[in-house]
Amino acid sequence: MLKRRFQVSAALLTACVAVSAQQTTTLKDAYRGIFHVGAAINEQQIAGTDTLGTTIVAAQFDTISPENVLKWERVHPSPDTYNFAPADKYVEFGEKHHMFIVGHNLVWHSQVPNWVFQDDQGKPLTRDALLQRMHDHIFKVVGRYKGRIQSWDVVNEALNEDGTLRKSKWQQIIGDDFIEKAFEYAHQADPQAELTYNDYSLENEAKLKGALVLVARLKAHGIAITTVGIQGHDSLAHPTVEEEDTAIAAFAKLGVKVAISELDIDVLPRDPKLFSADVSLKVKQDPKLNPYANGLPDDVQQALSKRYADLFAVFLKHRAEMSRVTFWGVTDKDSWLNNWPVPGRTSYPLLFDRNGKPKPAFDAVIEQEKLAVKQ
Ligand code: XIL
Repeated sequence: MLKRRFQVSAALLTACVAVSAQQTTTLKDAYRGIFHVGAAINEQQIAGTDTLGTTIVAAQFDTISPENVLKWERVHPSPDTYNFAPADKYVEFGEKHHMFIVGHNLVWHSQVPNWVFQDDQGKPLTRDALLQRMHDHIFKVVGRYKGRIQSWDVVNEALNEDGTLRKSKWQQIIGDDFIEKAFEYAHQADPQAELTYNDYSLENEAKLKGALVLVARLKAHGIAITTVGIQGHDSLAHPTVEEEDTAIAAFAKLGVKVAISELDIDVLPRDPKLFSADVSLKVKQDPKLNPYANGLPDDVQQALSKRYADLFAVFLKHRAEMSRVTFWGVTDKDSWLNNWPVPGRTSYPLLFDRNGKPKPAFDAVIEQEKLAVKQ
């Protein structure tokens, strides 16, 4: 009798699991045909040692970005050394799961070694020598993955908050047209690849104006830019949905697609003056700045879900202009926001919790698509 009852309940359990697996919509299924939904993946996920993370990525997303492995310092650490092993695995992972594969990034002022800008004696390179180095790097890296990486972040973060061009070493040595050159080389290396200008705070009025001028300039010069990446390192309040809406519409008007390329929503306290995604920001540890070390209160969890729903409503409104929405990390445990701008905090910016369980914000994102269909 006992044995029979056990058999019945085991069968019931199997059936329930099967039904709930069928009923649980994944992000990529919910948004199929609308825009790609993806995540940046880290070294452990690429190597397959974080099996939980890898399982979530394979099940939920149809586009991936490399959090670090394709940055200059990783892939090209010294003049004659290229380290392609992790990037090769990254691309193989994306191909295995039939994903839209993003390359991040080619030309940036951060995570690029000093030698790039110096000659053998440590003196600053000339414009021509730096252009040659940029050309060789782009040809080597883009060329290796030609036809396999579908979209490249060609230039990352070339603008200041006020919309002027950042005085990076690229800009100082080459001049303002380092941007045109980077796009030209990337286009020559893989004419089929989508090419993106990527930056943060593009929803802020002054920076948006500067970015629009830049994109218009590139277009006027016949540059093959296809996409603008709005990074999307957001907070509960910033940017407003109106600002998000305005920015996407303004880029679309210039004839480029918009990617939300690095989405996360920070619920931890931050000085509003420090609201950007400038990787060089460093704020001292302070327990007051880490209020949810033992768990996220329900009201904040709800506010995060609402915020995700509101942002996705804007993305859905612009579905015709959007190429993808990529989260910057898979679970809250992975997020760079645990260590930036304050080291050692417990942050909650993504759709999956530290155990890989979908959060209420996950349901809100799925639900938002259903609402958009009904409207
Ligand atoms: C971050 C990574 O997530 C960190 O692991 C790394 O230490 C620093 O860079 N804008 C970008 C991303 O374009 O490349 C940055 O990624 C986050 C801000």
